Amino acid sequence: MDNPTLESNSGSQAHTDEPQAGGQLNDYLQKIINSIATPVVVKDKHHRWVLLNDACCSFIGRTREELRGKTDYDYFPKQQADVFWEMDDQVLLTRRENINEEQLTDSNGVTHTILTKKNIYVDAADEPFIVVVITDITDRKKFEDALTSSHQQLRKLSAHTEAMVEEERTRIARAVHDELGQSLTALKMDCAWLERRFTEGQTDLLARTQMMARMIDETITTVRRISMELRPEMLDDLGLAATLEWQLQEFKKRTGIDYTASIIPKDIRVGDTISTAVYRVFQETLTNIVRHAQATRIDVLLTADAHMLLMQVRDDGIGMTNEQRTQTASLGLLGIRERVGFLGGVTEIGGEPGHGTTIEIKIPLTHTNFGGTP
Ligand SMILES: Nc1ncnc2c1ncn2[C@@H]1O[C@H](COP(=O)(O)OP(=O)(O)OP(=O)(O)O)[C@@H](O)[C@H]1O
Ligand SMILES: [Mg+2]
Repeated sequence: MDNPTLESNSGSQAHTDEPQAGGQLNDYLQKIINSIATPVVVKDKHHRWVLLNDACCSFIGRTREELRGKTDYDYFPKQQADVFWEMDDQVLLTRRENINEEQLTDSNGVTHTILTKKNIYVDAADEPFIVVVITDITDRKKFEDALTSSHQQLRKLSAHTEAMVEEERTRIARAVHDELGQSLTALKMDCAWLERRFTEGQTDLLARTQMMARMIDETITTVRRISMELRPEMLDDLGLAATLEWQLQEFKKRTGIDYTASIIPKDIRVGDTISTAVYRVFQETLTNIVRHAQATRIDVLLTADAHMLLMQVRDDGIGMTNEQRTQTASLGLLGIRERVGFLGGVTEIGGEPGHGTTIEIKIPLTHTNFGGTP
């Protein structure tokens, strides 16, 4: 019992619950596994450590003499030993390899995150042993955790910046629309006032004033367009569905690309954050279609129920390769994925070269961001 070993190759030797006496084979095995820099331990069916390499002893922080014949419960906290034994039992039962991420506290009280790979070895006498190979992944986990948390921070920062930009755009759009618009309307009225006061002989002055009035009209149109492009007021007033329809009409006027739009239900109303995000995704999708797709028509589907909003934009253009889909240098598609991802949604980019492109986004809705009629 004090000196348990991995059974030698003698099939004739009877197996009892007592660990077997060591033989030459054990010395040989011991030498071989000592040459492995990764911690390796072999357990018998009673979970006793029968063979440990040097790397394993120094990882745990104890001598081989201290460890041999002992079990996980002798040196590790109970909750860790429970997990080790549960995995041992799985391997013994299924006789299949098992890989598990676990915690191990060494003799200095340092807790490591380890990846434990367990395999079954059955000797000539049909006695099962568990071969355990341990990889210390503590540092890797730390890096992964740091990376995940920094990615989350960057995501938050990017969403925060987007929200600030959006706020600023809304403010400028309103100022341009209201203040500039009002001044221009006042100027237009002054022109009309002047026009009425010219005498018959003042045709030059009248013509010049009429020209000014026309220029003011054009400027009013430009101001409206700039304000709309910055942020359409109708997104806040009439909602997402109406804004997308308006944008499609403008798109057709500008590019000649035909469209169909299915909006179900017609009065889809979602909260500010989501409607802004979907609107910006839609803008980028249309810009991409104009810039890259060579499409002749697009089909748009916007639908929502109490749980999910779905927008699908399909074009009949040249399509995309896998490489283009995953390009990291360009920011348009990345921005779409980020916006949607931040809202807990998913983006799918489908299609093949020569068969058009489909961009589909799904965003989960809750009762707070889904409202019925406008
Ligand atoms: N509808 C589309 N049809 C065909 N190719 C497309 C379409 N949308 C995007 N692509 C391809 O995918 C690439 C990546 O698009 P993405 O919007 O990320 O970048 P971009 O439009 O090139 O630049 P930007 O960062 O200014 O948006 C494009 O360069 C283009 O080759
Ligand atoms: Mg783009």
